[in-house]
Amino acid sequence: GDVAVLVPAAGAGVRLGGGGPKALRHLGGEPMLVHAVRRVAAAPSVSAIVVAAPPSEVDAVRSLLAPLAPVIVVAGGAERQESVAAALAAVPEGPDIILVHDAARALAPPSLVESVAAAVRAGSAAVIPVLPVVDTVKEVGADEVVLGTVDRSALRAVQTPQGFRRSVLAAAHASAADSLTDDAGLVEKQGYR
Ligand code: C5P
Repeated sequence: GDVAVLVPAAGAGVRLGGGGPKALRHLGGEPMLVHAVRRVAAAPSVSAIVVAAPPSEVDAVRSLLAPLAPVIVVAGGAERQESVAAALAAVPEGPDIILVHDAARALAPPSLVESVAAAVRAGSAAVIPVLPVVDTVKEVGADEVVLGTVDRSALRAVQTPQGFRRSVLAAAHASAADSLTDDAGLVEKQGYR
């Protein structure tokens, strides 16, 4: 395989509410991270998986994932971007394509991993999976007063895995200043299509 997948899983789960790190919360009897890694490992192009775990859970996550696939586990950081950077630094030499996949997106199928990887292999520097926005979206001002209705036909909700040529993602992270919620945002700022 020519693909390495980074799995940021170090979030504290604050928005989700009490009960510990989101990636380790259960869905159908298993941690979301287990669901996510099992599906990533089932994609034939994937030759390396690097998980960024909550720093206090690195050993536990290693034991949790060892039965599924050979997985490298590193300690994540305070921000998602730091967790991705830590995982990126641990990728072995070899893979030319790097995917970044949120552990919280536990049910993304192996076929999505393959199609994102295939688009990068076909020549794109950066590729993201998206869905059309189906809800009506309002722009609001102070006091939640509606300013207008956004044209949703041009909007897309962004998912993961996001795929990159390795050199492109490495350069984006090396020059990253402000913290963004997704890796494609860093790459956009570098001017890549
Ligand atoms: O909080 P958010 O939905 O942006 O988190 C997306 C993914 O990034 C989750 O899988 C979460 O565990 C991970 N994350 C991380 N390190 C952080 C914050 C979030 O690995 N410091």
